[in-house]
Amino acid sequence: MTDRKSRKPLPLLCLIAACAVLTACGGGQDDGAEQRSSSAGLPKGRIDAGERQANAKGAATGQSCIDCHGADGNEPLDPTYPKLGGQYADYLGHALQQYRNGNREHALMANQAQDLNDQQIADLAAYFASRPAQIRDLQGAH
Ligand code: HEC
Repeated sequence: MTDRKSRKPLPLLCLIAACAVLTACGGGQDDGAEQRSSSAGLPKGRIDAGERQANAKGAATGQSCIDCHGADGNEPLDPTYPKLGGQYADYLGHALQQYRNGNREHALMANQAQDLNDQQIADLAAYFASRPAQIRDLQGAH
């Protein structure tokens, strides 16, 4: 005859263990994220510092952002260069981070972004986002 008492309620124990793990992982999310301005995890951007940075010639290239993207980021040197004025700061900051870490590849922009720190990226993003917007859908434009 089978001993019923020796059978353990294994599925129930697993469920309880899984709940305990999930509860432990779900807590303690206070990493200061609410103090940051950007979904890209950047510090708060400063428009005035960004304007100075945008006009400063980069050490690696001898060019400034404005040299290529134009005044307010709205008069690009070449019609295929994107306008930056009025673009979301989060988007600009994210794009610059991607160029910096190589996830977005472009020969010209990699050089521009490689030496920027997080504060400089946030400042540049805040500055160009504060300019008048001329961005539009470029699908089929070139
Ligand atoms: C030598 C010319 C040149 C310079 C200088 C330059 N850029 Fe660019 N930038 C480009 C080009 C070309 C692209 C488009 C690259 C691509 O297709 O990924 C671009 C793309 C970008 C983008 C992505 C825009 C989008 O809509 O996705 C951002 C943001 C940007 N540049 C910011 C800057 C900032 C900030 C600086 C100064 C630190 C700067 N650029 C300097 C040529 C330049």
